[in-house]
Amino acid sequence: MKVLSGIQPSGSLHLGNYFGAIRQYVRMQHEHDCCFFVANYHALTTIRDGERMRALTMQCAADYFALGLDPDRAVIFVQSDLPEVAELAWMLSTVTPMGLLNRCHAYKDKLAQGLSADHGLFAYPVLMAADILIHNADLVPVGQDQQQHVEVTRDIAEKFNSFFGEVFRLPQAYVLGDVAVVPGIDGRKMSKSYDNTIAIFEPETSLRKKIMSIKTDSTPVEEPKDPATCSVYALLKLFASEQERAEIETRYREGGIGYGEVKKRLFELVMDEFADARKRRAELEADPGFVREALKRGAEKARATTADTMAAARRAVGA
Ligand code: ADP
Ligand code: TRP
Repeated sequence: MKVLSGIQPSGSLHLGNYFGAIRQYVRMQHEHDCCFFVANYHALTTIRDGERMRALTMQCAADYFALGLDPDRAVIFVQSDLPEVAELAWMLSTVTPMGLLNRCHAYKDKLAQGLSADHGLFAYPVLMAADILIHNADLVPVGQDQQQHVEVTRDIAEKFNSFFGEVFRLPQAYVLGDVAVVPGIDGRKMSKSYDNTIAIFEPETSLRKKIMSIKTDSTPVEEPKDPATCSVYALLKLFASEQERAEIETRYREGGIGYGEVKKRLFELVMDEFADARKRRAELEADPGFVREALKRGAEKARATTADTMAAARRAVGA
């Protein structure tokens, strides 16, 4: 199976990105033909500072490598190093109905907040379709919020194929149910745009502070609590063993456990889970040449393996 996915380098990668996306990437690279990229052109809809974009792009790639993506197993590259994707996005945009994009949530949410949206945000799903279709991907591992965009990609591919012949394979989103939406410290979906994230490589003191500030209700320690509505428990569940999860769940229901205790345990679990990755991340920080070199190789492979599909698309439209 061909697998493809990407993340925007619009800020530090957080626990939502890890459980919703990156952990699946790391697993899938052992089983499938995988491509993972840093979606810097998508991030251009929010970051308008070239220096900052360059730095964030390198950081995001270093995070990928530190978390276990292996450039010898998967093709790892930066979106703008495969410029053909912008060319394909144009071809696709000519067969994309306005109504389809009007329904997409990133654009709709911005309008609902009373903000003016630009064409980049409106056309965002078309660029995403190009990312996926240029690789003829079968599976796209993402969190639930991106599922709609993969469905739009299928619609666009079907349209293109119906006009021009069978050029593109129809991709499928791969969403893991139990980690589909990781909550942030305010209880809403963890997201860079809500400023409620816990970054994976957050310095230890600020990590502790963030975890201790996760919003909870005011149920006293001795009273029973509902684990199903508690963000601390939802996060803890992602890290704890089956046995520990069950124990804590029972103590929630019986009463006698305080949120402070669970937060402290969560902090320990997060530090343990990412201990090796933190070490690797620090080493990569000191060796930017490794990241640059790996991305260069990734870009070369990505251009080579997408050349046939790109040629087929050009041929089909008469370009
Ligand atoms: P953000 O919302 O912070 O900007 P992105 O949109 O860049 O994050 O998401 C990158 C990947 O991480 C996508 O596959 C997305 O679905 C996944 N993801 C982001 N936040 C979460 C979350 N809170 N829970 C589960 N998956 C998430
Ligand atoms: N839109 C995705 C996000 O915000 C990032 C992305 C861009 C992507 N192109 C993609 C994800 C292609 C999967 C496949 O998270």
